[in-house]
Amino acid sequence: MHTTINRNNGDLFMEDIALNDIADQFGTPCYVYSKRAIELNYDAYVAAMGDYPHLVCYAVKSNSNIAVLQTLAALGAGFDIVSIGELERVLMAGGDPNKVVFSGLAKTADEMSRALEVGIHCFNIESESELVLLNATAASLSVNAPVSIRVNPDVDAKTHPYISTGLKEDKFGIDINQALGVYERAAQMDNINLIGVDCHIGSQLTEVKPFLDAMARLLILVDQLSERDIPLAHIDIGGGLGVRYQDEQTLSVGDYMAELLPLLAQRGETLILEPGRSITANAGVLLTHVQYLKSNDHKNFAIVNAAMNDMLRPSLYQAWMDIQPISTHPDREERIYDVVGPVCESGDFLGKDRILSISEGDCLCLFSAGSYGFVMSSNYNSRPRVAEIMVAGEQVHLIRQRETLRDLVRGEQLLPVN
Ligand code: LLP
Repeated sequence: MHTTINRNNGDLFMEDIALNDIADQFGTPCYVYSKRAIELNYDAYVAAMGDYPHLVCYAVKSNSNIAVLQTLAALGAGFDIVSIGELERVLMAGGDPNKVVFSGLAKTADEMSRALEVGIHCFNIESESELVLLNATAASLSVNAPVSIRVNPDVDAKTHPYISTGLKEDKFGIDINQALGVYERAAQMDNINLIGVDCHIGSQLTEVKPFLDAMARLLILVDQLSERDIPLAHIDIGGGLGVRYQDEQTLSVGDYMAELLPLLAQRGETLILEPGRSITANAGVLLTHVQYLKSNDHKNFAIVNAAMNDMLRPSLYQAWMDIQPISTHPDREERIYDVVGPVCESGDFLGKDRILSISEGDCLCLFSAGSYGFVMSSNYNSRPRVAEIMVAGEQVHLIRQRETLRDLVRGEQLLPVN
């Protein structure tokens, strides 16, 4: 996974830009993304696939800013979406609808109609009821819907339980043991065109084995289907490749494909991937200022201006994300801090027990924040959502304005006064 962040004479730079300059110009908290890092991470996928027929569908949910999507669309990326909101973003960013796969377990008839109207590549279907609705929706538009069934292969992704999705107890997909029957019934539906199979077993995977186990199970199913005259054109193994937040031994895209592609040798189905985190996580940071320092007998607290509403991962998953000052000050006293935000919840922290040499007013950088950062942010505690910035070489672009107090109450209405 590529990053374009370096420390130079004590100051952090992203590409050619000092992060200090961004903090000065745009204020904090703000998310900053590197265009180059996103491009390099996407290119690594394409390179790792070599000549094998493939489609890399970036998981929009991981970072859906339209400038990020535009960057990937310009490289020819496909997109994995989970809502019509994400589809409209992809279209706005110049993405090709024909390279869109539509995941998610509760698609509505309206969402299906819109996706059929723009001609997406495939619907990843998660239940028989959804299949029935899609068939009816396609019939009402006199079209056929391209379909893949998302199967749950029952493999343990060995990741955090909240981001593991391929076990029997998870809500996702159709049990692989029921899949054959569902395909056979789908094959009888007039407006369903079966073109693929998919799975997504979890996120932040650092081992290749769960992916290989899942693929092996999918291949058995694909062969059984082909014996029953239901040939499939693609196999979609989902996303999930992990990135380094701390010192994890991660799997490179090259190593992943070097193990996965041999399973597909002599077959020819197109391989679809749905990576999110491995494209954007290490391409982004969150900048935040230290507002106050305070200590008691037990602890030192660095109270910063970013909170769990801006970056939820540490609070929700106990995720460890690196925190460093954007300019080092070796003269300052080194202490162990809990880095906490202004939100009124004890669970509001960005990091615990971090060794830092900092003073009030310093700017900190939270690393690997390009995925599942801004997209999971909220207005909790009536905090406006922060600005997003994209660095491209020597250029800096504001790609989302900081929300204003007026934005906070947009759409709200006082009751009439009698
Ligand atoms: N495809 C499907 C169907 C998914 O559900 C997901 C992620 C992906 C692809 C992309 O997975 P990735 O390559 O990014 O691992 N908010 C959590 C992660 C939730 C992942 C949800 N699904 C976090 O911050 O760790």
